[in-house]
Amino acid sequence: MRNLIPVKFISLFCLFISLNAFSQEPIISVDVTKPVAPVQPTMWGIFFEDINFAADGGIYAELVKNRSFEFLKPLMGWKIMKPDTTSGVLILNQSETNPSNPRYARISIAPGEPSFGLSNEGFRGMGIRQGVTYHFSILARQKGKSKLKMRIELVNPQGAVIGSSSLLPDSESWKRCQVSFEATATEKKAKLNIWFEGEGDLDLDMISLFPGDTWKNRPGGLRADLVQLLADLKPGFIRFPGGCIVEGRELETRYQWKKTIGNIDDRKLIINRWNTEFKRRDTPDYFQSFGMGFFEYFQLAEDLGAEPLPILSCGLACQYNTAEAVPLDQLDPYIQDALDLIEFANGPADSKWGKMRTQMGHPMPFNLKMIGVGNEQWGPQYIERYTVFAKAITEKYPFVKIVSSAGPAPNGKNFEYASAELKKLNAQIVDEHYYAKPEWFLENATRYDKYDRNSYKVFAGEYAAHGAKTGNPVSHNHWECALSEAAFMTGLERNAAVVQLCSYAPLFAHVDGWQWTPDLIWFDNLQSFGTVNYYVQKLFSNNKGTEVLPMLMDTKPLTGQEGVYGSATWDQNSHEIILKLVNSKSEPQPVKVVLKGTKKLVKIAKMITLQSDSLSTFNSLEHPRLLVPVENEVVLKGETVDQVLAGYSFTVIKIKQE
Ligand code: AHR
Repeated sequence: MRNLIPVKFISLFCLFISLNAFSQEPIISVDVTKPVAPVQPTMWGIFFEDINFAADGGIYAELVKNRSFEFLKPLMGWKIMKPDTTSGVLILNQSETNPSNPRYARISIAPGEPSFGLSNEGFRGMGIRQGVTYHFSILARQKGKSKLKMRIELVNPQGAVIGSSSLLPDSESWKRCQVSFEATATEKKAKLNIWFEGEGDLDLDMISLFPGDTWKNRPGGLRADLVQLLADLKPGFIRFPGGCIVEGRELETRYQWKKTIGNIDDRKLIINRWNTEFKRRDTPDYFQSFGMGFFEYFQLAEDLGAEPLPILSCGLACQYNTAEAVPLDQLDPYIQDALDLIEFANGPADSKWGKMRTQMGHPMPFNLKMIGVGNEQWGPQYIERYTVFAKAITEKYPFVKIVSSAGPAPNGKNFEYASAELKKLNAQIVDEHYYAKPEWFLENATRYDKYDRNSYKVFAGEYAAHGAKTGNPVSHNHWECALSEAAFMTGLERNAAVVQLCSYAPLFAHVDGWQWTPDLIWFDNLQSFGTVNYYVQKLFSNNKGTEVLPMLMDTKPLTGQEGVYGSATWDQNSHEIILKLVNSKSEPQPVKVVLKGTKKLVKIAKMITLQSDSLSTFNSLEHPRLLVPVENEVVLKGETVDQVLAGYSFTVIKIKQE
């Protein structure tokens, strides 16, 4: 006879199983009726610094390197293509008449001699696309009766011509001459050859080549694919121009915004601070042409719908380098720069600096609301200087919020000192930086839970998880880092009452011209892609919501229980509850989210997941979309979301209230 188990035992067994499962499935509550704090529209933004060829060689679409012969070595980036003749190039310096762009090149060809050429290598080559129109321009003057003609060629590494034109400068005084032509082939590492034919002397400066397909087709503009990646983030703000380049290694090479506006021929080039900072990644050909200057930054902010956040020198050079400080009684010109910048951005067209903005083509104000005093400064030297700046700015422009610095680390002596002093000074927004291991990011998801709600607001101005380094620089942007950032960012979002701006750092890196890894977006001369970290940023920024909702498990925020991190927001524009859940463990994790106080909810919610079984997954130029967000649906059980979070995943669930 078969052994039959009585029905009541089967029921008890089932109950036991379900209780057991229940005890393993965190029950999370989200109360829609109890918003905790508004999420500022500026919450998720971007931090642009000209590091890793981000501006020159990157977003600034100029293809000619050292176009005005102002690098330390005037012919760096140029090669002379010279047959065995007396023809040649002479670098002349007219610093008396043109101090901001003193050098130019004189080409001389003796009677009866063959043509002579100059070749520009671009920024690790030039990215050229078949069918695109290229605009070549030059400042030139013929000497005396000279009639030197120019033959312009784009060539591939094998020497084949992939686009050409010619130009005959026709003036004895400096004049801009230009010609446009179409490329016949696509090439990542092209060069520009300029052949000179005829006899006599021709003076040249500002030799330039731009693609016609720039962002918004602006002449002399920005690389469209790179700007598009920024636009897709829908950033709330853009902090610029750095970073350490704001400070300079010494005061002389600090970033001076007034030298970066107006006619590009007059923007004085300087060495980029990242040029030789890291011996292992020496980049001697890295300079700042300022073709991407403060006007262009403001314009980019406007295009992106992002609040501009310029950071200015506070009279302290990089404290990791010379730490030169301007004596306190000589700070006035620095402070004046800050006040003038606000006038440049916001002033009426008849004010001195507002007029300059108008002349550059932007009569309407840029509506600047925030300004940063100093980058990553520390110690009493900083606090003393910040105090003077803050007083002057607030007196003249009380509506402009001031961002100050908590130094390079998120804890320790310098941090504690800055934090205490800035509190006493009633600082408005304090910039904190953290480059740390993924474990730090997981452990610090609770960092801001303890921050005083009645003190300054936080700008998480630079952060990135730095994991184990492997041979390939792009691989430093692997999933382990991005996942830990996502977990940490739930803590930023939960604490939107304190944290009001956040930006990953650095933003861009050229695969052949980088100095620092990891970075958010990588590119070569033709292509670009978002890292897995980029998609984490994008998911937060594109789904930010307008108010933080309490997301609790047993009355506590979700900060790593069972490896799960989470935050929730309400979006008053789209009428959605937005849940963000991170499973930091390899095993799948069931969760039950109970939504309290809701009105009628849709039955099917949208779910977006970023997931990989391997923590070492990374996107690359070869596989740019190896790990990207995937959209799905989740069926609600009344007011409950019952979902299994895949191992190593970041999930966003959007539930519409009808
Ligand atoms: O993001 C790279 C550098 O890190 C920044 O220039 C600086 O502010 C920080 O030290």
